[in-house]
Amino acid sequence: MRKKLIAAGLIAGMLSLAVAGCGKNSNYTTKVELRDDPVKSSTDYAGGSGNATDENASKSDGKENSDSLKIGFVQTANESGWRAAHTKSMEETFSDTSKYTYTFVDGQADQAVQIKGIQKFIDEGYDAIIVAPIVVSGWDDILKKAKDAGIPVIIVDRQVDSDESLYSCWVGSDFDTEGKNAAEWLVKELGTSEPKNIVVLEGTPDASATLGRTKGFNDVISQYGNYTILASESADFDKAKGKELMNKYLSQFPSIDVIVTQNDNMAYGVIEALTEKGANIENYTIISFDGEAEAFKLMVDGKIDLDVECNPLQGPTVEKLLQDLLAGKSVDKTQFMEEGVYPASSAKDEVANRKY
Ligand code: AHR
Repeated sequence: MRKKLIAAGLIAGMLSLAVAGCGKNSNYTTKVELRDDPVKSSTDYAGGSGNATDENASKSDGKENSDSLKIGFVQTANESGWRAAHTKSMEETFSDTSKYTYTFVDGQADQAVQIKGIQKFIDEGYDAIIVAPIVVSGWDDILKKAKDAGIPVIIVDRQVDSDESLYSCWVGSDFDTEGKNAAEWLVKELGTSEPKNIVVLEGTPDASATLGRTKGFNDVISQYGNYTILASESADFDKAKGKELMNKYLSQFPSIDVIVTQNDNMAYGVIEALTEKGANIENYTIISFDGEAEAFKLMVDGKIDLDVECNPLQGPTVEKLLQDLLAGKSVDKTQFMEEGVYPASSAKDEVANRKY
């Protein structure tokens, strides 16, 4: 117990230093009092609706340790297996209740809800805020409020277009490179002479994951005259919408060679659509992103040809950054996760290693 208190004291000391460094008022021992506002919260990252009320906003253990650091995480939503793994990674990282009081807010795919969640953490004097922004723009005001309150903000997963001075750092994937890697593999695989028709299922509009993957892919593919992108539309990173969009593409375009789905969830919808139509899946080159275990199984079965990894296990990196920030150390503004590119030929050996 004494050991725990010393550890908490050490963290508190580090915090005061950081606070001094960035002009923050130190109130890390303030009790969390969840107010009756409309922010919805949930820990149900395993596929639930995320519709618990704010009154029981999900803290790490349902009670508070007044010596712990109050960490608030505002997630985008619960739209995919990737997202579930991302939420779980944060929850596991901040599960030590002797060090952290961790509160999770489900943004319900709504930027306004996300902003409310951040505001709540500011109002309640949280020690640090982690935000997974659903879209790129519209964060300046709330980030400025957090900065003025001296609360470090770590942006995770998708990027924002705010000035870098408004947040502490960002941890996530190099979406542009992911898109490029997909296109480079495709060009190697299908060559540069035979005409090939591509349809793309994009993610959420204005999300940096969508923008980056689209740009990276298009930048490479546009250099080769034998590739035509027939259509590139959003299915919101969602399985059901992916299926619907694939059905639309199938009725619209008689000759499709390549299907690019910007996440595994949409790939599952695409495969369902093709299967229900009685199409021969082997006739299509299917490229996906994320690298979920389920998608690896589909690669083993010959249904997906390439999966470009997007690493959701960001919790430990975020914790390390937080400790550095609170200790007053400077950190790199941009932190890319390590990620691989997996063609179907590698899936059999890799499938057992997948962690999400
Ligand atoms: O921002 C990361 C993307 O968001 C993942 O590719 C996707 O599965 C999630 O919904």
